[in-house]
Amino acid sequence: MLYIGIDLGTSAVKLLLMDEEGKIRNIVSKEYPLYFPHPGWSEQRPQDWYEKTIEGIKELVEGADASEVKGISFGGQMHGLVALDEKDQVIRPAILWNDGRTGKETDYLNQEVGKEKLPEYTANIAFAGFTAPKLLWMKENEPENFQKINKIMLPKDYLAYCLSGVHCTDYSDASGMLLLDVKNKCWSKPMMAICQVREEQLPKLYESYEAVGTLKPEIARATGLSESVRIIAGAGDNAAAAVGTGTVGDGMCNISLGTSGTIFISSRSFGVDENNALHSFAHADGCYHLMGCMLSAASCNKWWSEDILRTKDFAAEQAGITRLGENQVFYLPYLMGERSPHNNPNARAVFFGMSMDTTREEMTQAVLEGVAFALRDSLEVAKSLGIKIERTKICGGGAKSPLWKKIIANVMNLKVDVIGSEEGPGYGGAMLAAVGCGEFKSVEEAAEKLVKVVDTVEPEAELVAKYEERYQKFRKLYPALEEVF
Ligand code: XUL
Repeated sequence: MLYIGIDLGTSAVKLLLMDEEGKIRNIVSKEYPLYFPHPGWSEQRPQDWYEKTIEGIKELVEGADASEVKGISFGGQMHGLVALDEKDQVIRPAILWNDGRTGKETDYLNQEVGKEKLPEYTANIAFAGFTAPKLLWMKENEPENFQKINKIMLPKDYLAYCLSGVHCTDYSDASGMLLLDVKNKCWSKPMMAICQVREEQLPKLYESYEAVGTLKPEIARATGLSESVRIIAGAGDNAAAAVGTGTVGDGMCNISLGTSGTIFISSRSFGVDENNALHSFAHADGCYHLMGCMLSAASCNKWWSEDILRTKDFAAEQAGITRLGENQVFYLPYLMGERSPHNNPNARAVFFGMSMDTTREEMTQAVLEGVAFALRDSLEVAKSLGIKIERTKICGGGAKSPLWKKIIANVMNLKVDVIGSEEGPGYGGAMLAAVGCGEFKSVEEAAEKLVKVVDTVEPEAELVAKYEERYQKFRKLYPALEEVF
């Protein structure tokens, strides 16, 4: 049996073909453009996602026996607003998770509806990237488009809709809309009223491992797959990545170093961070999780290396970095504003502390360290809630760098467990497909059987102490600059 996991990312869709033993048979990646029509805005064309996914599926199964493919599932970039009219046409480009245009709407929700009421309705407060503030923005700024909305969905749900014809979503991804009552796993009536949307405009809710339907005949013909292939609801990319790294059940941790950076803590029971700096969302294993999300993680290194230093050779750029824990240069990674824990769409990236003898290596090192320090900000929130974390899994493009893993282990003082592949959301998606097709009894069973730790990066006491000192300086910089932002 073969299963397809589709990781619908921000820079590309990555498709992964996995067999029932968890072996990765093929991976295909297809890029598409990201548009920044105004500073701080971030959009993509859902049609690009769909076209690249279909191209990708065809390429993925080339050379395999396509009739062995039994299920397809997804890990998708979260929070993006996809709106379709009554003819199922996309009304406007999708407004993405890292879009900061909704400062006014976010303030309205947090201040007028209130930081007491919102968690009661949804388990969370409003952040600029969440979906509900985007609906309010559209109502105010594009009333004609808002009137046309017939279906609201999240990015990966657009793919599921195109493939199966079913308007669906899953609890983990729906949690990031600020329209779901996360605790009770149903749409929140007060939030629907606030955003002036009706339940029939919202997708039907499923657990991530549940089948929503089968492949439409025309898609089966176009891709060479069978019409009986099951489409499984899938999950937000972080929950899917957590599945892919075996971060399921209670008290497990995963760090994702993708375009965004997240720290994800799984939990069997529902819980809320009373300061609401961490998100309280449903998990793809049927339980819950807490998550801190920074908006620019591996994207900081990509921007710095590719756009500024004009090199794609990240490994060569990092090769000269040897003096860990001693860098005088700091970098604040807020290229697209920041979500956790600052919740400030107006924050921007900063280099601090250069002198005449500062080197290129130190600047690159500062970028890697700045991301690790910002992730630690979320870890500190988790610790303040009494959550004890000693080790973490890691995934995402940034996890390919041994140096970055070492910096993370020492800045955060965590043992970092490395999995056979860093393909978190794609692998997790394929695992959810396998569970949805009955290959495993539960997501936990799939994780136990398929996910293997191949290496652990241990923190070193001396380096941890040096980084502790650096971190205490780092954490003073944002408050000092907040007013200027
Ligand atoms: C999570 C978040 C990001 C996106 C990235 O809340 O906004 O991690 O899901 O794809």
